[in-house]
Amino acid sequence: MKLWGGRFTKPTNQLVDEYTASIGFDQKLAQYDIQGSLAHVAMLAETGILSEEDAAVITGGLKTVSKQIKNGEAELTEENEDIHMNVERLLIEAVGSVGGKLHTGRSRNDQVALDMRLYLRETLVELSQLLLDVQQSLYKQAERNMDTILPGYTHLQRAQPVLFAHHMMAYVFMFQRDIERLADSWKRVNQSPLGAGALAGTTFPIDRKLTAEKLHFDGICENSLDAVSDRDFVVEFLSNASLVGAHLSRSCEELVQWSSAEFNFIELDDAFCTGSSMMPQKKNPDVAELVRGKTGRVYGNLISMLTTLKGLPLAYNKDMQEDKEGMFDSAETLKGALALFAPMIETMQVKKESMYSSVRNDFSNATDLADYLVTKGMPFRESHAVVGNIVLHCIESGTYLLDLSLEELQSFSDLIGSDIFEKLAPETVVNARDVEGGTAQNRVQEQLDKAAELFDQT
Ligand code: ARG
Repeated sequence: MKLWGGRFTKPTNQLVDEYTASIGFDQKLAQYDIQGSLAHVAMLAETGILSEEDAAVITGGLKTVSKQIKNGEAELTEENEDIHMNVERLLIEAVGSVGGKLHTGRSRNDQVALDMRLYLRETLVELSQLLLDVQQSLYKQAERNMDTILPGYTHLQRAQPVLFAHHMMAYVFMFQRDIERLADSWKRVNQSPLGAGALAGTTFPIDRKLTAEKLHFDGICENSLDAVSDRDFVVEFLSNASLVGAHLSRSCEELVQWSSAEFNFIELDDAFCTGSSMMPQKKNPDVAELVRGKTGRVYGNLISMLTTLKGLPLAYNKDMQEDKEGMFDSAETLKGALALFAPMIETMQVKKESMYSSVRNDFSNATDLADYLVTKGMPFRESHAVVGNIVLHCIESGTYLLDLSLEELQSFSDLIGSDIFEKLAPETVVNARDVEGGTAQNRVQEQLDKAAELFDQT
């Protein structure tokens, strides 16, 4: 007999049981569900809705069920549809019919919204910790590479040299905003829907604030229809998760490029790479590729949730059961990615000389030659054209700006003096960007100091 079987005259079609059941995935919520039930039953006793004796029996029973589920001793069945009804069934099996009093003044609709919020709270904390670990590993690479210069790119064409530390710090600040977004979402996640009932509240004199307090919520959802029917907090999480994915994926794309023979900028540690079943020489950056690849499903989960919600009238609709798998999947996918990304970054070898020779053998100091002519009085538009001509000359003769003699340079502009060679050296070019947030060593050091302060506050 189903917990809701009273008004039915026939058993459910078995395919319907299979189709509508969520126990296959919502069993992840078991301990949150019981946590919520413990608070609910305590409130029922404190408000006099249940006797202290009944509440004590139910509380004991819930703790037994919690252990049974943890130890894998409980049988969770599709016939009981979801985690909420499975727990209730197990409770009744453990303590008898008094267990049936637990659901007084409550519906699965407020219950499931509660469980989702409890799950997300823990997830937000875990993800923030993992993000902090990622930041620390990027930070360490920045510290180690305060004098490592690599080409900075736009359009994937060498543009201007930057410090490798500067590049690492760019991601530290991206992940900082990710942490801040997760932290900001906390105040919207941390509102208790419990007591909203199925949709309209309940006839029992429950105390919603009391259960909210017991579960350490900041407050209660003010409107019962809103409490059971919106999943905006899930969308917000999936959206924040997608941005973390975007940041991870861009960095991983760079790791893949940098570890290719064509770039030869880094070597990922053997422990974070895999080989080929056929080609003995291969060392593949699979982890970085998979982090990039799995970002697709994290985005997919966001779009699914938004799409599921868009046509739903208030209040609860069964469609909303589709909220869980994507949320779990994005959380688990990110946890897996972050846990690997941090040590992969921390252990990568940075090929300083190789990066340097890329900078030396390119035209990423061309802007500096143009700027130099400006300091000698030439309008920037003109100096841009002059340097363009010099670059063309170099390309045709297979040389770079620093390979030209002073006489050759002066044949393009007599404003050029012998101090130009020092001005065009990669170190000078980098350190000339001495502006807040710029790539000059002292400015990058400021970024490290700023980030260290932020870590202390987190
Ligand atoms: N398994 C359901 C879900 O995940 C729980 C809520 C069911 N409520 C209902 N009225 N059928 O959404």
